[in-house]
Amino acid sequence: MQKRPGEDKSFCMTPREIVFELDKYIIGQDKAKKMVAIALRNRWRRQQVGGDLRDEIMPNNIILIGPTGVGKTEIARRLAKLAGAPFIKVEASKFTEVGYVGRDVESIIRDLTDLAVSMVKHEMTLEVQDKAKEAAEERLLDLIFPAESHTKEQTLDFSKDMFSDKPELSAEGEERLNRTREKFRIKLEKGELEDRIVEIDTTFDSHPMLQIFSPVGIEEMGLNIQDLFGGMMPKKRKRKKMKVSEARQVLIAEETQKLIDMEKVIEEAVKRVEQSGIVFLDEIDKIAGEGEGSGIDVSRQGVQRDILPVVEGTTVVTKYGMVKTDHILFIASGAFHVSKPSDLIPELQGRFPIRVELDTLTTDDFIRILTEPENALIKQYTALIETEGVKITFTKGAIKEIANTATSVNERAENIGARRLQTIMSTLLEEILFSIPDKGITSVKITADDVKKCLADIVEDVDLSKYIL
Ligand SMILES: Nc1ncnc2c1ncn2[C@@H]1O[C@H](COP(=O)(O)OP(=O)(O)OP(=O)(O)O)[C@@H](O)[C@H]1O
Ligand SMILES: [Mg+2]
Repeated sequence: MQKRPGEDKSFCMTPREIVFELDKYIIGQDKAKKMVAIALRNRWRRQQVGGDLRDEIMPNNIILIGPTGVGKTEIARRLAKLAGAPFIKVEASKFTEVGYVGRDVESIIRDLTDLAVSMVKHEMTLEVQDKAKEAAEERLLDLIFPAESHTKEQTLDFSKDMFSDKPELSAEGEERLNRTREKFRIKLEKGELEDRIVEIDTTFDSHPMLQIFSPVGIEEMGLNIQDLFGGMMPKKRKRKKMKVSEARQVLIAEETQKLIDMEKVIEEAVKRVEQSGIVFLDEIDKIAGEGEGSGIDVSRQGVQRDILPVVEGTTVVTKYGMVKTDHILFIASGAFHVSKPSDLIPELQGRFPIRVELDTLTTDDFIRILTEPENALIKQYTALIETEGVKITFTKGAIKEIANTATSVNERAENIGARRLQTIMSTLLEEILFSIPDKGITSVKITADDVKKCLADIVEDVDLSKYIL
């Protein structure tokens, strides 16, 4: 039996292993990494606890607090990849109070369930893949072989049951047929028939159209037009001519669908959401209003009040049935520039017992961020420029100078954290990115002096740097 990719890998990852993985992308912020790693592992631990106690153990929801551009969202994104559990990241500021136009908070859980369903479906698809391929290959053979053994005019309309339709065939004749069929099988396997045209019945869904035009409201209720009418509407079947290579894909998809038990998929998906789902509520500070006051604050508090039961544990109706939210882990994050965590309504504060502050990034952090992570900016640009046959290198001094510039612009203009590195890099490399490949350059070396020369004027002039960097 194949291992479920999500389930095993990450759930057995120890906190240390999780931090190790996060370290590949996020520099510093050790405390935050540690806390999310513990929270993630605790989900698994809870599952190992037996009996009633398991239901009593509540997730330790976390708030990540820190200035903009220091890695809060990045941690969430990377965690999502590791989690192996249903994971969704949403911006708290996108939601509106129930009764107002916009998305209500329960839709988070519905989306999470959708995600889990496709996740489980994908895993099951992998599991039945071999079987589906085999079945598809068999059907392909049915399509090709009879066509071959008859005259042209007679082509195409051959069903699977062709053999049983011809009882008059002698034993010898049947054997000959079988032999020929085997010959075709070999040809097919060798890939010699890929370009041959076959005609197949495809059941094509008119559903996607429906989904696009369905009113949002209905979706919000957790209903789905597709499910309501999908069963009632006769599936349209259409005959289509296509190459064997294309037909194979269609057939595999059809056979896969036949092999997957959707009821099981849904059951498993709902279980995963309830037991190990994670919701990352980004920008939570944006719904923390300062005290009583204007209309906006009132509606923000409304959103907070709506979030409360979902965090606390409630049952949400989704199109896949009821989903209990008691054990879903919530990680909230926000810059809390204007507002403070204490501006959240008290009940909500209580539901996020763990607070982690992220550090402001230093020049040394910038140097590391530029070079170390697997997706580091320097690596990205090097790869980009290499596609033009140009090798670009940055001296140590150059990188230090970029980091210094980032720090000083962050101090003088606005502190946007590591995002500053992106604006600086794009300004710095603008000329090179524009002039390759025309100039026939094959290698470029960027030194500290180059960086200074390119950026000095802009950095000096605060107003200018506000616009450019
Ligand atoms: N500690 C870090 N290590 C590596 N890269 C980082 C770090 N902090 C930020 N970055 C980079 O900076 C960019 C912005 O970071 P991120 O989106 O995490 O900011 P944020 O903390 O969520 O800010 P905001 O409060 O504005 O949402 C990301 O693309 C990320 O690659
Ligand atoms: Mg963010």
